[in-house]
Amino acid sequence: MSQKPWDGRFSEPTDKAVEAFTASIDIDRRLYNYDIDGSIAHCSTLARAGVISRQEAQLLAEGLEKVREEIRRGELEFCDRLEDIHMHVEDRLAVHVGDLSRKLHTGRSRNDQIAVDERLYLKAETRAIIAQIFDFRTALVDLAEANLNVVMPGYTHLQRAQPVLFSHHMMAYYEMMTRDAGRFADALDRMDVMPLGSAALAGTTYNLDREYTAGLLGFSKISENSMDAVSDRDFMLEFAAAASICMIHLSRLSEELVLWSSAEFRFVDLPDAFCTGSSIMPQKKNPDIPELVRGRTGRVTGNLVNLLTLMKSLPLAYNRDMQEDKVPLMEIVDTLKACLDIYTRMMPRIIVNEDVTEQAANTGFQNATDLADYLVEKGMAFRKAHACVGKAVAYALDCKKELHELSLEELRQFDETIKEDVYHALSVREMIDRRKVYGGTAGSNVRKAIARAKHDLAAFHGAEGGC
Ligand code: ARG
Repeated sequence: MSQKPWDGRFSEPTDKAVEAFTASIDIDRRLYNYDIDGSIAHCSTLARAGVISRQEAQLLAEGLEKVREEIRRGELEFCDRLEDIHMHVEDRLAVHVGDLSRKLHTGRSRNDQIAVDERLYLKAETRAIIAQIFDFRTALVDLAEANLNVVMPGYTHLQRAQPVLFSHHMMAYYEMMTRDAGRFADALDRMDVMPLGSAALAGTTYNLDREYTAGLLGFSKISENSMDAVSDRDFMLEFAAAASICMIHLSRLSEELVLWSSAEFRFVDLPDAFCTGSSIMPQKKNPDIPELVRGRTGRVTGNLVNLLTLMKSLPLAYNRDMQEDKVPLMEIVDTLKACLDIYTRMMPRIIVNEDVTEQAANTGFQNATDLADYLVEKGMAFRKAHACVGKAVAYALDCKKELHELSLEELRQFDETIKEDVYHALSVREMIDRRKVYGGTAGSNVRKAIARAKHDLAAFHGAEGGC
């Protein structure tokens, strides 16, 4: 065999610096299992088309399994000279099956080979991520259920706005994560397309049964256009976008946990096992996990921009630029998986300081809207009621009291329809209970939302177990 599978037309050996610069083996070695799966399926397809014999296909498959085992055991030495995982596998195959290895690449190009490897890799990782999101959603529902009736301030503009249940707040993240799982499932559908047979760009001359290859590799569809098949990285961009949105959600939760665990809020205590201290300030307990998840969001969104920029303006079909897709893609996968994993471990151990959140829910005039609604019930137009309550708030601020701390006489200065029952209307529990509108924070609603979530999670689990 010549030194490189493609060096026949070259008059001098590749410069060492060029080898080092062009090699992708450091990163695409991670694809070895998928590369070998793809090659074994390709051998079977070649045999089915009569391009190689059944026996040859069998020998090639056995040889490929030996290479797989060698790589798994860390016995194969990787080198820049052989550029990428495809050439390493083929080169090593020669040791096991001799000259027969030269038939493996019939009707195939590294362009459709890398496309199939990446799709197989990302399908597996996307499934793993959907399963991780499932675990995280379960942790969110469990935390919500364990703190079902804990009240806390709800915020807009990070100013206390109206009281909500802590469980309602957690279930908001459950909704985000459910959409994230849906986005990954959608992306999974579009990455589930088998590109082999496209060869370099125009399609192979061999009569390959592509549906057969797809079946062997677990793809549900085959690509429609060979040029698109070798140059499409949309499936990756979609995945990266879904991962970025998911990380944005985790970063929002992180920001809240950082705030809530501060002395200023004291809403939650993070478990000691998930925090670290300071090397100089002995009193410090830092919320490292949420901080690092918040920080790592930049890696994922940055890598999405990296991939988008990589693909922008690339002419059809394959371009070597595309080799650069693996570093950002794998960094996105690794980062998101690590963040989901650590959060799923930490969530069940978060302690909510119920007394503190309840106290906070009772302050800052969070019942002002409810006083206006009370007046509306007594017949006043909402805009008028809003102005009237505004005056009451100004008065209460002057006396350094909350609305519900004003006496009935004081309240009646603002409107005479106000009666003793106003205090009930202004109590935190009543305010929450009254928000029974579908999707609102009333305890009865949140209980149902938790039940729905559990039902959906059980259905997902059942479906996963079934396939
Ligand atoms: N290592 C390459 C990549 O990751 C594989 C395809 C190379 N094709 C080529 N014609 N050089 O994209």
